[in-house]
Amino acid sequence: MNDILEFWNEQARTHGTDLAATMPDPLLKCLELAALRRHLDPALDTIEVGCGNGVNLLHLSETFTGRLTGIDFSPDMIAAARQAGSAIDFQVEDIFNLRGQWPQIFTDRCLINIPRFDLQIRAAINLAAALAPGGRLVLIECSAPAHARMNEARARVGLTEIPNHWHNRYIDERKFIDALKADLQHIETDRFSSLYYLISRVFNAKMTPEGESPDYLAEINRIACDLPSVGDFGPHQAWVFRKR
Ligand SMILES: C[S@@+](CC[C@H](N)C(=O)[O-])C[C@H]1O[C@@H](n2cnc3c(N)ncnc32)[C@H](O)[C@@H]1O
Repeated sequence: MNDILEFWNEQARTHGTDLAATMPDPLLKCLELAALRRHLDPALDTIEVGCGNGVNLLHLSETFTGRLTGIDFSPDMIAAARQAGSAIDFQVEDIFNLRGQWPQIFTDRCLINIPRFDLQIRAAINLAAALAPGGRLVLIECSAPAHARMNEARARVGLTEIPNHWHNRYIDERKFIDALKADLQHIETDRFSSLYYLISRVFNAKMTPEGESPDYLAEINRIACDLPSVGDFGPHQAWVFRKR
């Protein structure tokens, strides 16, 4: 895990407060933010675990009325988050050390940085333990089966596979949700990135002239962002739980 921590420290030192520190695709970030707004209660005190340089919380702080807190195990990410000078409380802390009685907790691509399934489950159980009774947990994480389906669609049109980053372990959400059922009631799965992935990573990628890189901000990607999602081709999903 030390290599992974060093990777995120380096991302923060290179990109500072910029979105690029944690996300290369601005439209995908818009979809993540919209999903957070759909599933989080803006009036509750809320903590983001693995908050990076604070992009999500800074955005939510424009309209949320509850107190906002962010923790991340990367000191350089937290230093970048604090640079924005907001009222949000940003602290260096590991997901495995979170304590408290939070009404609402969320992650956005944090658990996928934990390199084993059993440790991902242990981290999620720790999040459940840090929730107040009846508290809400929203996990935006990446589905391994959806990622595989997206790559199958690419293969059908002659595109190469998009591999996982070395520091990511995508999750089989059915096994994950099942392993947590004693602690957390699963409320819903929001497959918000499915249509966007099909359009951007299959259609737009296929239409891009050979030798060029697909443009994240291509018009067809923007259109996909504005439409309701369909299917199960997008790794980025929101898994919504309530503490039992
Ligand atoms: C892909 S970035 C996402 C950052 C932020 N959630 C966002 O969406 O902008 C993942 C973040 O999780 C943090 N992280 C990874 N493992 C962690 C752990 N064990 N405890 C706390 N933070 C962790 C990393 O340092 C990194 O900032």
